Amino acid sequence: MEKPTTLFDRVGGEQGVKNLVRSFYDRVLKDPELASFFEGASIDRLFKMQYEFFAAALDGPVTYSGLSIHQAHFGLGIDKDDFCRFVNHLIDTLRTWQISDQEIQSLISRVNTYADEVTGSAVVVD
Ligand code: HEM
Repeated sequence: MEKPTTLFDRVGGEQGVKNLVRSFYDRVLKDPELASFFEGASIDRLFKMQYEFFAAALDGPVTYSGLSIHQAHFGLGIDKDDFCRFVNHLIDTLRTWQISDQEIQSLISRVNTYADEVTGSAVVVD
């Protein structure tokens, strides 16, 4: 029986996911409501870590090696509206890729599980 393909494969493997992350961050960094959060950040590191995070979230053969999502966003003052804007940019980006609405929904459901960690409203034992 043929091995089922992962979303990572369907998005285009390593290069496809890198393109997706770049295109997503182009939108986020151009959004005047969100850009200021990234002023002190190393964008190179952010791309590398976001690639790993998304590759792993799309069931690709990659292990995420960055900070915990709680630690990465601790003290940045991101609220629920910021989180929603960010996720809406991700949805808009995914809609330009060849993946179904159902697959987009399944990825967004996974991303939504991090809302409390990103906004600092989760209790986390580090
Ligand atoms: C589910 C949603 C999110 C995920 C999965 C996510 C993921 C990540 C990852 C993997 C990193 C890099 C961690 C590292 O350097 O080891 C990071 C850093 C960062 N994220 Fe997010 N993020 C999310 C939402 C947001 C939102 C909503 C904002 C702002 C509006 C944001 C702003 C930042 C900033 C500014 C950094 C850099 C922090 C620094 O270098 O000091 N993130 N994020």
